[in-house]
Amino acid sequence: MFVLGLMGSPRRQGNSDLLLSAFLEGAQAKGAEVLKVDVAFKNIAPCQECRFCEQHGFCRQHDDDMREIYHLLRRADVVVIATPIFFYGPSAQLKALIDRSQTLWARRYIMKLTDPKAPFRKGFLLAVGATKGKDLFTGTSLTAKYFFDAVGARYEGFLGFRQMEEPEAISRHPTALADAKEKGEELTNAFSARRRALFLCRENAGRSQMAEAFLQYYGGDKFDAQSAGDQPASEVNPLAIEAMAERGIDLAFRRPRGMGEIEDEGRPFDLVVQMGCEQSCPLTPAGRAENWELEDPAGKPLEFMRLIRDEIEKRVKALIAAGV
Ligand SMILES: Cc1cc2nc3c(=O)[nH]c(=O)nc-3n(C[C@H](O)[C@H](O)[C@H](O)COP(=O)(O)O)c2cc1C
Repeated sequence: MFVLGLMGSPRRQGNSDLLLSAFLEGAQAKGAEVLKVDVAFKNIAPCQECRFCEQHGFCRQHDDDMREIYHLLRRADVVVIATPIFFYGPSAQLKALIDRSQTLWARRYIMKLTDPKAPFRKGFLLAVGATKGKDLFTGTSLTAKYFFDAVGARYEGFLGFRQMEEPEAISRHPTALADAKEKGEELTNAFSARRRALFLCRENAGRSQMAEAFLQYYGGDKFDAQSAGDQPASEVNPLAIEAMAERGIDLAFRRPRGMGEIEDEGRPFDLVVQMGCEQSCPLTPAGRAENWELEDPAGKPLEFMRLIRDEIEKRVKALIAAGV
């Protein structure tokens, strides 16, 4: 379980920041790995409306921190945005990030590719403003709704607090921080009943990436799938991305991960599958351990990648049918 918090205020330790920290504290208490990104201190250029992403599925602007954000958005099970209300909308810094999610919108709606985690990802908004305005959160809530749709998350609603002007005013509110913490616990809790599965191969660039994505795609309601490699490559094999795209599954923005980056929820894996790692797996699953004898597709043509993809798909479906 990975919970991503996007902090939209330029004021550190201000009201949005405190609310977000409380939310993430709740998520962490339920076993999630959490990360807060200070969006206002990132270098994120606004969308140029060049429509490059609609043709190519990537943003033409490469010189900023948005590539990391795309990666984190794709990794997350829960995305929470926290923002002050500025002129009835989110902060400009957060809005730049939101507009840049047009790339993910294009991959989803124009290229018709499905992010395997999209069907189960959740999105939430924390917002704070100085006035009493009846419609204070209306615009930002709508923006959040469409942002979460573009990034592949179900919008679970918002917590909004009025009449908060000074930094830390929120900490004097009778329930705000406790409410945010409780929301963090609640949204993360929804994932904690899933069985934990881990796929391992040498470079985490092909076989284990495809297996992870298939399990998320076909069984993400019941399984929390991860993958890693004992010698992680620098990028996911482009042919694995292509072969999965032929199935309508989007591996873009995913990265090979080392054994040390496996999310630790304080409970063992129910299933560990190894596919030709150099060393034997140091993890002992609570349930099943399997060794899949599948040839490494690295350096081989697309036709071979397709064969491995199909075999992995078959085996993952069998795992789901067996309930592991
Ligand atoms: C540029 C700017 C615009 C703002 N616009 C609004 C507004 O439209 N409505 C409102 O209630 N508060 C508005 N505020 C006040 C902030 O929303 C408020 O101080 C909030 O608590 C700041 O949150 P933070 O501590 O997370 O930055 C505005 C503040 C600034 C700096």
